[in-house]
Amino acid sequence: MRATVAIIDTEQLRRNFRLLRRHVEPAAVLAIVKANAYGHGLVECAELFRQEGAAMLGVAYVQEGIQLRQAGNPLPIVVLTPPQADEAALYCRFELQPLACSLPVMEQMAAQARRFGVRLRVHVAVDTGMHREGIPPSEVRDFLQRLSELEGLEVVGLCTHFATADEADPSFFWEQWRQFRDLVRELEAAGYHIPYIHAANSAAAVRFPEARWTMVRPGILLYGYQPWQGGEKLPVKPVLQWKSRVVAVRRIRSGEGVSYHRLYRARQETTIVTVPVGYADGYRYGLTGRAECLIHGKRFPVVGAICMDEILVDVGQEPVQLGDEVVLLGEQGESALWAEELACWLRTIPYEVLAGISSRVPRLYLQAQVDATEQLSSTLARV
Ligand SMILES: Cc1ncc(COP(=O)(O)O)c(C=O)c1O
Repeated sequence: MRATVAIIDTEQLRRNFRLLRRHVEPAAVLAIVKANAYGHGLVECAELFRQEGAAMLGVAYVQEGIQLRQAGNPLPIVVLTPPQADEAALYCRFELQPLACSLPVMEQMAAQARRFGVRLRVHVAVDTGMHREGIPPSEVRDFLQRLSELEGLEVVGLCTHFATADEADPSFFWEQWRQFRDLVRELEAAGYHIPYIHAANSAAAVRFPEARWTMVRPGILLYGYQPWQGGEKLPVKPVLQWKSRVVAVRRIRSGEGVSYHRLYRARQETTIVTVPVGYADGYRYGLTGRAECLIHGKRFPVVGAICMDEILVDVGQEPVQLGDEVVLLGEQGESALWAEELACWLRTIPYEVLAGISSRVPRLYLQAQVDATEQLSSTLARV
């Protein structure tokens, strides 16, 4: 097995889910597992959320839904990007629920559903201001009428997505919220009964009880990251640690350079260690000259250009040995380093850091009822 692994604490994932579920009750939870469950493992996380009582799962693409079906996950699965007509048969065959946001596409979906002899459940997507997908609120009633004339479809959901629920200034959030609320009221008054009304991502689910309706759609919070920086927070904790080991140790003289283009020069004689992780694993080239990692519970700079498969760390005079643990993301002794920090070095967001840990990095799942530290060290001893 590779020395570089992503370790997923399934008990912490469970705790995060429970904290969120209790917080939003009686709203149901659609757990977002797209992008390999934000890097944490699509099939494994989806199964845990199923055990914990998630009502539905959210993916971005049909292929992710098919992967879940092939792994035997029976939960309703909503595909959260606009469907393409040529995917209609896959939606029907694998019982995936599309967003309804185009009549011609829905006509094709309905035709396939009749061919397959199934009723395809769909969620009408409403564009309240994000302008990414969905139809304007003013067109929803007419759209619903047209959908009801298509045999083979059943509207089970009405949804929108907030663009700014994590911003300090909530004014645009409330604009979107008002539009959606008015639409929900109008449809109720017109006699529509749509069981799943959903809009809230993690930030909205925590901050705005008014935005929960019958179901919420959290992602980042389940994986242990705060969706917004102000006010009320749930005490979730990160679930994924990214660890490796030292595979080479060398002394270099003052003035010598390391890695491609010798971007970094030693100011004094020092020890450089090699760690087998690189940009092909998601440890991005953009971290060149900016990152730190943990060894022996201390922070050391990652130096020189990030390579495809390796990075170099200047550990100074620290007596680092072959095989010593290196933490890229996670905890070691009293020190910790989480995705917010990597995101800051990369001028990006924690979502991208987590989702960017590539499939080349093996995922290890720490199970319940065993001392986590013990399990972690025995797992790492095997790699
Ligand atoms: C449609 C939709 N709903 C919910 C989410 C979850 O967002 P978050 O991870 O901020 O909770 C996303 C994520 O981007 C999304 O695209």
